[in-house]
Amino acid sequence: MSEYTATALARANIALAKYWGKSDVALNLPAVPSISITLEPMRTETTVRFAASLQQDALVLNGKPADEKALKRASKVLDQVRAIAKLDLKARVESANNFPTASGLASSASGFAALVAASWSAAGMARDNERWSALSRQASASAARSIYGGFVELPKGIPGDATLSAKPIAPPAHWDVRIVVAVANEGAKDVGSTEGMTLSERTSPYYRAWVDCSDALAAEVRAGILARDLVKVGEAMEQSTLAMHACMMASRPGLIYLQPATLAALATVKRLRKEGVQVYATMDAGPHVKALCHADDAERVAKALADTQLVLRTLTAHPGPDLEIRK
Ligand code: DP6
Repeated sequence: MSEYTATALARANIALAKYWGKSDVALNLPAVPSISITLEPMRTETTVRFAASLQQDALVLNGKPADEKALKRASKVLDQVRAIAKLDLKARVESANNFPTASGLASSASGFAALVAASWSAAGMARDNERWSALSRQASASAARSIYGGFVELPKGIPGDATLSAKPIAPPAHWDVRIVVAVANEGAKDVGSTEGMTLSERTSPYYRAWVDCSDALAAEVRAGILARDLVKVGEAMEQSTLAMHACMMASRPGLIYLQPATLAALATVKRLRKEGVQVYATMDAGPHVKALCHADDAERVAKALADTQLVLRTLTAHPGPDLEIRK
């Protein structure tokens, strides 16, 4: 029946002020504030269909049945939505990314945001960005930010606060910047973010220092976005990135996500800056470099990164809109 089906379109996001560490593991609350840009055209489209004929939940990712672990994580989200909607039907979920899953752009953020919104809408409930963001955050904290377009903040969580959600800082039209992704390799990462940040918290002597510097860096990124000051945002973003990676590396065993291609791309970004281009770099729990620059410089930045040794290719994104629902 059509009233039990809905499709959601969510975009990936890239953090300028990074999230790494949890203040409450059970509720998946971040220990630090994070700020991101929602990325167009890096999209996940997810359709959820609740039906009495289904014996169990099913999840199809990019045309293939998902593994047990992914299905379990999705069923957990569906269970929460079913409880709120008082709906007792199993679901079939079909989800696809229009950007290559191995491109180094986190598909989990757009994936969980789209799953929450599509299942909520399929269950017949009205749009509720705040609750969508809080539910997405419980599944994967970076997903909370993909509910909103433009520039988005997820505050740090106070333990016990199940309602924490992301908040929009500025709409996409506020600032015409670009993110150029330098793809460093196509393989899947060894240690995922959830596991990695738990390890850092337990074992990294720099974890405290990382948490301690995060408020000031997020405040700088926020102020820089509002003032459209690329140098301010870029410098704070690079420090947030490198402080997070220092914390990761000092874990036991060490988490080294950076690869030779990463360092080569970082050198290119630095060289471009010397040549007068306002461009700054960030990396997540993987080797890819994501460069932030003005729209007018994006072609030059993309060419320089594509020409960098060991970089496989580049993708360019701009600030995208809020999550969209298609009934
Ligand atoms: C390095 O949101 O994937 O990309 O909440 O455990 O699912 P969980 O973690 P996740 O972590 C993302 C970490 C990051 C930085 C960021 O996106 O802010």
